[in-house]
Amino acid sequence: YQAAKSRQGSHKVKTRSEVNGRAKKPFSQKGTGNARQGSSKPPNFRGGAISMGPQNRDHSFSLNKKEKTLFFGLGKKKEATAENFRRAAGSVVNFVIDKKYSSLAVECPTGGMEAYNCQAFTEGLVLSSYRFLDYFSDERANYHLKNITMVGTCNKDASKKGVIIANAVCDSRDLGNHPGNVTTPTRLANFAKEVGKKGNMKVTIFDREKFTKMGMGSFAGVALGTNEPPKFIIMEYFGGSKKDKPVLLVGKGLTFDTGGISLKPGLRMDEMKFDMCGSAVVFGAMNAIAALKPKMNVVAIVPSTHNMLGGSAVKPGDILTAYNGKTIEVLNTDAEGRLILADALAYASKHYDPEYILDFATLTGAIVITLGGIATGIMGNNEVLIENIKVSSENTGEHVWQLPLWDEYCDQVKSKVADVKNLGSPGQAGSIAGAAFLKAFVREDIPWVHFDIAGTASHVENRSYAQKDGASGQVIRLVLDLLGV
Ligand code: BES
Ligand code: ZN
Ligand code: ZN
Repeated sequence: YQAAKSRQGSHKVKTRSEVNGRAKKPFSQKGTGNARQGSSKPPNFRGGAISMGPQNRDHSFSLNKKEKTLFFGLGKKKEATAENFRRAAGSVVNFVIDKKYSSLAVECPTGGMEAYNCQAFTEGLVLSSYRFLDYFSDERANYHLKNITMVGTCNKDASKKGVIIANAVCDSRDLGNHPGNVTTPTRLANFAKEVGKKGNMKVTIFDREKFTKMGMGSFAGVALGTNEPPKFIIMEYFGGSKKDKPVLLVGKGLTFDTGGISLKPGLRMDEMKFDMCGSAVVFGAMNAIAALKPKMNVVAIVPSTHNMLGGSAVKPGDILTAYNGKTIEVLNTDAEGRLILADALAYASKHYDPEYILDFATLTGAIVITLGGIATGIMGNNEVLIENIKVSSENTGEHVWQLPLWDEYCDQVKSKVADVKNLGSPGQAGSIAGAAFLKAFVREDIPWVHFDIAGTASHVENRSYAQKDGASGQVIRLVLDLLGV
């Protein structure tokens, strides 16, 4: 089941948003409005090929044992959504994997519908076939679902694109699922180089000495506590015209978060290997871009380090100076994500003229309390961009929910001894305080949105196409949709 070269360029066909009656607003650069191109009239409509079940969410199906034919239900045809196709595909693949079959031929059930449904169904097939088995040395490592074949009425280009995007998501899940002694900053830097090679991207890595000398005192401050070499990773993809402003993607690449001197409690601390999942979103998007080669400019920036408590580690009360010259009072060394992102955002603001900046971070436990594992929290300085993100969220089934970022919240990160402090007001609006802090490092004229993915990056429940114990790879598809890839 191989990824193949996808259709390039952009011819305007009916978008899913348009079909749904909610379209993205123009946002200066092309691309943002072009997501989900699909043909409203499929080439060979053939009705009645699938059995429709009664439910939308629990895809009922039955297995004819003799012929090993599986019938799966999609619910009411008029209620069919792309997410429903994705979840249906997931149910089928999970069933097949449970039975330990080695191959699956599945009739694309989207006949008569939009191409994006075809893409969604294919995404579901690939995403749900993912299991993280690398460290088993017994028979669990031996079984694999070797191939999935799609037959029947199907938009080939859309399904190829679905394969490429889902494979990119799975690569990112791998980065997240490997533990902190494997997914190190060096591993992330090497991953960036591999993707860069595939996608004709320029990849630049600054090591500790270099970024410290350059004045990234905030990132360098967090990295003081670890001997594992930290990396500042930049990937530049210029597939568009020179005059197109690049979109900047910034990701938290915290490869293990102990909390530092403000040490975390021991219970489930192992899960802090997922603290680099913001960077996995950025790498996932770049990975898909490397394969699909859209005509646009995209730059990825990832500051990456462990947050440890070595003898030189940053301490509560220490004051750091960030790349944009602002001083930061570190009141809690566990609020380190915002410290490493501060320099990345300041670097992006200084060296590029971005159309917009998106940052992705497992930033706060507070967002898990607020939205659970169901939705990603978003906050930013530009309502048009936020609206477009909400449309892409609907297109991809990856929920986002906006929290406010009023000036009063920004006042809460002002310090008595420095420009800002890395905490908000005690016991209040913790996720917003994180965003308010980040805002101080984004040039004011640049549209910017922060994604707090602490709840959605791992342990996602009730999605047939994501394993609940592990990295989800969520919002990569949303970003690609937003970019119009
Ligand atoms: N990586 C954590 C946030 C996190 C918590 C991610 C739970 C996933 C699950 C982040 O670095 C952190 O420790 N944040 C602190 C901030 C606080 C000290 C202001 C938190 O949320 O407790
Ligand atoms: Zn932390
Ligand atoms: Zn963290």
